[in-house]
Amino acid sequence: MDKVPAAKIQFLPEDRIWIAERIQEVLASGQLTLGRYGADFEKKFAQLCGVRHAIAVNSGTSALEIILRSLGIAGRDVLVPTNTFFATAAAVVHAGGNPILVDMDPNSFAVRPEDIRKAITAKTAGMVVVHIGGIVSSQTQALVDLVEEKGLWIVEDAAHAHGSSYHGTAAGTFGIAGSFSFYPTKVMTSAEGGMIVTDDDHIAEESRILRDQGKASFTVNAHVRLGYNWRMSEPHAIIGLKHLERLPAMIEERRAVASIYDKGLEEFENLCPLKIPDGGICNYYKYIAVMKNQLDRKALKAELRDRYGVSLAGEVYEEPLHKQPVFAQYAPGPLPVSEDLCARHICLPVFSGMTPSEAAQVLDALKKVIG
Ligand SMILES: Cc1ncc(COP(=O)(O)O)c(C=O)c1O
Repeated sequence: MDKVPAAKIQFLPEDRIWIAERIQEVLASGQLTLGRYGADFEKKFAQLCGVRHAIAVNSGTSALEIILRSLGIAGRDVLVPTNTFFATAAAVVHAGGNPILVDMDPNSFAVRPEDIRKAITAKTAGMVVVHIGGIVSSQTQALVDLVEEKGLWIVEDAAHAHGSSYHGTAAGTFGIAGSFSFYPTKVMTSAEGGMIVTDDDHIAEESRILRDQGKASFTVNAHVRLGYNWRMSEPHAIIGLKHLERLPAMIEERRAVASIYDKGLEEFENLCPLKIPDGGICNYYKYIAVMKNQLDRKALKAELRDRYGVSLAGEVYEEPLHKQPVFAQYAPGPLPVSEDLCARHICLPVFSGMTPSEAAQVLDALKKVIG
């Protein structure tokens, strides 16, 4: 029995040669950080998103924290979805703010404008939206309009959403700024790394200062902010550049797998894929399907793996943040939609290079276990 892994990172042999040659070059020259490859990566990522500024950093977590520090959230509240990764809320705390956790929309796994409206108070500085699984919710513009009406800002944690869009607007560009992650599990990777995208000159300038120990510029040793070492190295930028070039093809490969799943799951009564809104392009970082009955997810995953060689991908997310011990002090009480749906969805394996027969094997195994 062939195994289908939960995920796989694809660097084509010719891409590995291209990367190795350039890493040799920077090792020989000694220009290992904040050099021309980082600048090129920023320029090309800005073009992908259609923004004026992209600032490369060492992780998606630091990208988000830098944006929040640039906006100045000390002592203020920031609305954050409860169904997100730890780093979304942790970045708010590290930047000096208080995350206020908000429940989710069952149709998009994003937050709902009506819940945001209720959560806004005089202490609210703004909100962070997360494009879960690479889906840009059809309500994103309504959220932007709502927070702007209140004089607040919206930041996008687009860690999942490289290349995703809704009606032509790229993920990361709806709000005042967006952050991306290039962690190895993501649709594109730089090994480790992150990117800030924005059209806002102030955020761009602050971000460049904050990522490099708060220095006024690379060559001047005047520390004007309490920054940190959040720089991206040249070897990371070189890896990211190559994957950025391959991004459209990698997304196409993921979308082809997703369309096999969409068709196959039509026959399933108790498994319903999350719908991508009309006018939306999803990069399929995750292929999310909701179980209609309360199936035992752990047992399902174990049976698929042990009997059929199929590993499901990690959930988005297994537990909402308000149930995580470290965020107990920010828990506003029960957030029932997330408690239900975090427990009741699965993510089918999707990766670039996945074959139609692997996708068919996943569907076949699912049919045998729950079909
Ligand atoms: C939604 C979300 N936000 C932030 C991050 C943090 O990114 P990084 O791991 O690059 O710091 C991740 C990464 O896993 C994520 O999924």
